[in-house]
Amino acid sequence: MCFDPHAVGWSRRGGLGFISRAETHNPGPRGYPIVGCLMEMGTQAHRKLARLARDYGAESLMALSMGSTRLVVASSPETAREILHSTAFSDRPIKQSAQQLLFARAIGFAPHGEYWRRLRRIAANHLFSPKRIAAHGAARLHECNLMVETLNALSSMVDDGHVTVRKHLQHAALNNIMSSVFGRRFDFYSPEGERLKEMVREGFDLLGAFNWADHLPLLQPLDPQNIYGRCANLVPKVVAFVQNIIDEHRLDASLAKDCNAEMDFVDVLLGMEGDDKLSDADMIAVLWEMIFRGTDTTAILTEWILAELVVHPEIQSKLRQELRNVVGDAKSITEAHIACSPYLLAVVKETLRLHPPGPLLSWARLSTRDIHVAGHLVPAGTTAMVNMWAITHDEKIWENPLEFRPERFTSGDGGVEVDVKGSDMRLAPFGAGRRVCPGRTLGMATVQMWIAKLVLEFEWSMSSKQPVVLDEILKLSSEMRQPLEACIRRL
Ligand code: HEM
Repeated sequence: MCFDPHAVGWSRRGGLGFISRAETHNPGPRGYPIVGCLMEMGTQAHRKLARLARDYGAESLMALSMGSTRLVVASSPETAREILHSTAFSDRPIKQSAQQLLFARAIGFAPHGEYWRRLRRIAANHLFSPKRIAAHGAARLHECNLMVETLNALSSMVDDGHVTVRKHLQHAALNNIMSSVFGRRFDFYSPEGERLKEMVREGFDLLGAFNWADHLPLLQPLDPQNIYGRCANLVPKVVAFVQNIIDEHRLDASLAKDCNAEMDFVDVLLGMEGDDKLSDADMIAVLWEMIFRGTDTTAILTEWILAELVVHPEIQSKLRQELRNVVGDAKSITEAHIACSPYLLAVVKETLRLHPPGPLLSWARLSTRDIHVAGHLVPAGTTAMVNMWAITHDEKIWENPLEFRPERFTSGDGGVEVDVKGSDMRLAPFGAGRRVCPGRTLGMATVQMWIAKLVLEFEWSMSSKQPVVLDEILKLSSEMRQPLEACIRRL
């Protein structure tokens, strides 16, 4: 038998993804036989995919195989909009680890349909509504105040005020979400807090790991990276932990029926009636997901902003001046002050542009039917990614894209207002369309409040022991390769 590589697309797409359907003639790299472009998907996949898209003149849409996965990648705002807003891309492909770790029943990975809509509606009304976000303001500030005191104590133990901030940001972010969702905080140095931290860390590792078996199904029974094994070990611990909190809430509710205390999200889920009522297993999935989505993105973004402020002391001073003018003699900073601080918002936007926590928008989309995108046929069952990092670093869209210049977003400095919450595809770090991030307003409110407080309380400068390296590593989110170390001085 004569093997004609061109007939089935082998020469164009080394992997198996694009041979199972008719060749779509989308431009893209060939990759290696069987594995296709799997090698490109390392810890800086966004950079590699951006380079490939440029090399192949495929910014609008690039097609490649990752083993048996058919993948298209959009690196232009126009195609990003087509994909994110299309009803054909309302599903997500689910990784083996996410499936095992219960996420198929949570908002992020539930298939588009009635159940997913119900979860979004419940979360929109009871966790992410403006009223709810405002009501949680004091708790957000409380977490930051505790972090400020810890950093202050640590820095005063050394001559140069040297601190490593990541752990403290993670603790604050985790307790921030735990208090809003579960109604309680944890001491991360107690056995229970340690257990929670360890479960979350293991979950992040497993979800962030690039699992070859996701794209080469023959490997699945072999579990070469031990991902299946580790997930199987973690799940019962998670279920026991979250179930215990649900049971505590049930008990509290039965003991104090007429109590008017602020309801947390577990109370809300337990109070659902009729069609909205969730089983305990579904509640566990939804609550567990919130811990993930709410913790790492917030901590990672705050760390990136602080790093940029250390590298750019003049921007840090300008920001502090704005905040001092706005806060004046007030005892404490409030959401109202934040709303009057356009430079603060510009600093956050510029960091989202240079260091989007989800450079490939975290979780991809899946086509549920054959559809044309940017003039190319994308068959049903194709994974679609938006390379937001490529868009936010494109010199055709952004002047001097590698420069950190918040002024590009302030009209007083000749900049332009750009909405980051999903309406402008030049900067859509929270995605867009039906599956846009539902936590974006909460995430922005938290990060702005924490940065304002940390900049008002401390002067941040470069450590002589460990200079700031603005290089990233893509795990579940894109975090600083070397955790930020800086010297702080209480103001
Ligand atoms: C800086 C903060 C954050 C960033 C950059 C971020 C980014 C993203 C992105 C890029 C997506 C995918 C959107 C798409 O496919 O179009 C997403 C989805 C999601 N995010 Fe966020 N996020 C942040 C904060 C949060 C917070 C605080 C929560 C909840 C506590 C949250 C919960 C979710 C959920 C549940 C989804 C899945 C939505 C769905 O599939 O319907 N996120 N996020």
